[in-house]
Amino acid sequence: MPRIRQHVNPLKSDLLEIADVPRLAPRPGQPLEVELGCAEAHFLIDRASAEPHALLVGVEIRRELVEAVNLDGERRGLGNLRSVFANMSVDLPRLFGEASVRRFFLNFPDPWFKSRQHKRRVIGPGLIAELARALEPGGELYVMTDIFELALDAMAALESSPHYESAVGPWTFARANPYGAKSRRERRCEQEGAPIWRLLYRRV
Ligand SMILES: C[S@@+](CC[C@H](N)C(=O)[O-])C[C@H]1O[C@@H](n2cnc3c(N)ncnc32)[C@H](O)[C@@H]1O
Repeated sequence: MPRIRQHVNPLKSDLLEIADVPRLAPRPGQPLEVELGCAEAHFLIDRASAEPHALLVGVEIRRELVEAVNLDGERRGLGNLRSVFANMSVDLPRLFGEASVRRFFLNFPDPWFKSRQHKRRVIGPGLIAELARALEPGGELYVMTDIFELALDAMAALESSPHYESAVGPWTFARANPYGAKSRRERRCEQEGAPIWRLLYRRV
C-alpha cells in the first residue's frame, strides 16, 4: 500500500489544473451523482450498490486514493463507480457538462482551521456557482460537516445564491442523511457522538 498523505493543499501550483481530467457523461437517462472529496469512497460504494442504474463519480485530489477506489470498485463488481483525480476548485467545468448532474455530495470538506489556511477551504461563491451550472434543474446539493462554522458559511453562501432553495426550509439544517449511505468520517463522528450539520438544497 503506498503512503497516503493526510492533507493536500488544493492551491499548490501543480494541482491548479490537472492535465488529464476526463469528460464524464452518463448514458442517456442515467442519473449522475458526484461526491466531491470522496477519499476512500465509502459513501459512494453504498450508493453504487443501492442504485445500480446510476453512475457514481468521486472527485479526489489525492491520486493514491483514486487508484485504490477504482481497484476496490472493480473487486466489488461495481461497474457504476468511478473515482477521478481532479481538483474540485478548478476542474469541474471540464469534468461535467451543463445540467448533467443529479446530485452533488460534499461530505466533510477539509476544515483548514488556521486562519492563514482559510483560503484553502473549498466552499465559497465560486464552487456554489459552478455546482449550479452542472446541476440538473431540481438536482440536489447535500453538504455535511462536523464543523459548525463551515456549515454556517456554506448555508450563508447557498441562501444568498439565486440558484438554490433549501429542501427543508430557509436557514434550516436537515435532520438526517436521506441517502442510505454513510461516509467514513460520518461513521466516525457517529461513533464518537459528535454533532453533524447537514444541508440539503435544490437547484431552482
Ligand atoms: C475530510 S476528508 C472527507 C472524506 C469523505 N468525504 C468522508 O466524508 O469521509 C476530505 C477529502 O477531500 C479531499 N479534497 C480536499 N480538497 C480537494 C479538492 N480541492 N478537490 C478534490 N478533493 C479534495 C481530501 O483529499 C479528502 O480526501
